[in-house]
Amino acid sequence: MTAVNNKPDTTAEFVAWFRSVAPYIHTFRGKVFVIGFSGEMITDAKFVNFIHDINLLASLGVRLVLVHGARPQIQLRLDESQLETQTVMGMRVTDPAALQCVKESVGRVQHEIAALLSMGLPNSPMANAAIRVTSGNFVTACPYGIIQGVDLMHTGKVRKINAPAIHSRLEQGDVVLISPLGYSPTGEIFNLTMENVATETAIALRAEKLILLLDTVDCTASAENKAGKLPRELTIAESKLLLEHKIPTPTPRVPDTLLPALQSATKACEMGVTRAHLVSRHCDGAILQELFTHHGIGTMITQESLQALRKAKIEDVGGILQLIEPLETEGILVRRGRELLEIEINRFTVFEHDGIIFGCAALYPFPEERACELACLAIHPDYRNQGHGERLLKHIENKTIAQGIHKLFVLTTHATHWFIEHGFNAATTAELPKTKQNLYNYQRRSKVLIKHLGD
Ligand SMILES: CC(C)(COP(=O)(O)OP(=O)(O)OC[C@H]1O[C@@H](n2cnc3c(N)ncnc32)[C@H](O)[C@@H]1OP(=O)(O)O)[C@@H](O)C(=O)NCCC(=O)NCCS
Repeated sequence: MTAVNNKPDTTAEFVAWFRSVAPYIHTFRGKVFVIGFSGEMITDAKFVNFIHDINLLASLGVRLVLVHGARPQIQLRLDESQLETQTVMGMRVTDPAALQCVKESVGRVQHEIAALLSMGLPNSPMANAAIRVTSGNFVTACPYGIIQGVDLMHTGKVRKINAPAIHSRLEQGDVVLISPLGYSPTGEIFNLTMENVATETAIALRAEKLILLLDTVDCTASAENKAGKLPRELTIAESKLLLEHKIPTPTPRVPDTLLPALQSATKACEMGVTRAHLVSRHCDGAILQELFTHHGIGTMITQESLQALRKAKIEDVGGILQLIEPLETEGILVRRGRELLEIEINRFTVFEHDGIIFGCAALYPFPEERACELACLAIHPDYRNQGHGERLLKHIENKTIAQGIHKLFVLTTHATHWFIEHGFNAATTAELPKTKQNLYNYQRRSKVLIKHLGD
């Protein structure tokens, strides 16, 4: 799969790469993404690149809501004013003097971000950008209350998000920038967390995506390194088990620093946001890599599993062809044209991951001879050795049994051992159904293998 992180170095690769991102561009146009990032990220030298990426997303028609944090900026201002604040269970008590520092810091950060988004220098990625940034009193807040006997005063939480007002700005093509401050109907101001504002905004807007950029370096597991990391994908149910420390995936358990973001992302998905992404901010172009490559670089939380084993539909013909054509060229599978595939699509079962067909198999019944043929079993090379072939075979076996048939045969040139290890036995062409014997291609010299299925 071509990826943005793999820099295309020939014209052909560039063209292939550009085409590979086209489906994402179509899918994302007009969709609402809420992106939350910390105050730490704003101080990073790479922040300007992030702003360029935001600009790119906006120009592709993504409706963007940015929610920023300001924790280090507030701390700096408090230090300058020689003010000390109390912390209860990780939450800062915002008294009236601290609130003054919060307002000053948040205001400054907001203006700095708006200024960066307004850049339009020629010969830079922002040339001709003309992004219009909107801010406003979109967040109604209420006091957090009293914890362990301590009144958190102006530390608050989101009570309501004015979704219609934000939607109307997005419809006009504006990028909406929201600060971690909320206002109460009584005219008070509250200090909020970025995570709280971003999550509630995504829920209120019924956003397509909530993306939280994390300060943790390298927070998502790679194939080689899973210790203390989040998996690449989690359903809401899996994420809840992880939060409750009920599953040891990956080992050792996920560090506590990642849990609040995971909690926010899980809540957002539970409340209707289609997908939530947790991505380390430390990687340049993190957001582009997460959005425009098939596997992404972060952790994606979804309502349902993205992987499905299902009956093929006519729309899958293109995906199946892409999967089997290289195997046909190598002579591993018998060539089937698009037309035959379209006619026989009902015989196929496919394995799909997030819209990509990565496995298929076909089942042809010979009812008069009480046998079924398994054909065209294929798993994409990137997905092999993970048990998908076995799962697909099991599915086909169950389908065979469901027809009251207990004899499954396969003709294969390259996977004889695989089938033998899965309970098939070598057989002769004479044991095949008569009609199949007549079609047997003696030039291919495929091995005949039969499995007798139990009830
Ligand atoms: C055969 C195939 C479907 C297996 O898919 P898969 O998802 O990798 O299979 P699984 O993960 O269930 O099994 C992996 C195991 O089978 C072994 N295996 C994979 N292909 C094999 C082959 N052609 N011959 C022998 N063993 C094989 C792997 O080494 C691995 O062994 P391990 O568990 O001891 O490490 C896949 O390799 C494929 O698509 N091959 C090309 C198409 C083909 O030959 N189809 C059969 C004709 S219909």
